[in-house]
Amino acid sequence: MTSSTQPRPVPPAHAVAASHRLVVLVSGAGSNLAALLDAHRDPAYGARVVGVVSDRPGIAALDLARQAGVPTAVVALRDFPDRAAWDRALTEAVGVFSPDTVVCAGFMKLVGAAFLGRFGGRTVNTHPALLPSFPGAHGVRDALAYGVKVSGCSVIVVDDGVDAGPIIAQEAVPVADDDTEETLHERIKVVERRLLVDVVGRIARHGLDVDGRHARLG
Ligand code: GRF
Repeated sequence: MTSSTQPRPVPPAHAVAASHRLVVLVSGAGSNLAALLDAHRDPAYGARVVGVVSDRPGIAALDLARQAGVPTAVVALRDFPDRAAWDRALTEAVGVFSPDTVVCAGFMKLVGAAFLGRFGGRTVNTHPALLPSFPGAHGVRDALAYGVKVSGCSVIVVDDGVDAGPIIAQEAVPVADDDTEETLHERIKVVERRLLVDVVGRIARHGLDVDGRHARLG
C-alpha cells in the first residue's frame, strides 16, 4: 500500500523502455523483421515486436514471426470491396496490438487516411534508396537504370505521400559498375537492416521529434 506522500518507485530505464510496443507490417521475405526480432530479444534494446501484420498470406515474414512466438494477422486487399475498407481493416488489425510505433518493413502497400488518422506520426518505413530520389516500389531498379554511382537506404516517417515523409536517417551504399538489381539490393539490405534496428531502438529509448519536414531522434 503506498500513500500519496511516499515516493513511487521509479522503474529502471530499460524496464520502462521495454514497454515500447512495435507492430511490424510486412509483405515478403521479412529480412528487416528478422533483424528487429533479433534485436528485441535484448531487454536493453527497449522495444519489442508485439504483432506482425501482412497484406498477404503465405509469406516467409509470417513464418519468422510465428517461429519467434509473435502473433500475426493477415489483411488482404482482395478480401475487401475497396481500398478504403481494406485500410480500415488494417487499422483495426494493427490497433489490436496497441502499438507505440508501427514499422513498415518490406510492406508493399500504401496506408490510407484511416490508418494515418490513428497511427500517423508514429509509423516509420524503410526504403532501399536515398529519398527523395527513387520513391516507390522499384527504388533499386530505378536508381540502377538512372546510372547513379551512390544509392543507399532511408528510414522515414510515413505520411500520405509515396515515400515522401520526413527523413529520420539515411546511409549511402556505393553502386558497382557490374551491379544488377539483385546484387545492389542485397548490399543495400545489409545496411538497411542495421539502420532500421538502430533507428527503431532509438525511437523506443529516446523518442522521435517531428517538426514539419524535420525528424530528429531524441
Ligand atoms: C527491403 O529492401 C525493403 O526496404 C523493401 O523491400 C525489401 C525487402 O524487405 N520495401 P524484407 O526482406 O521483406 O524485409
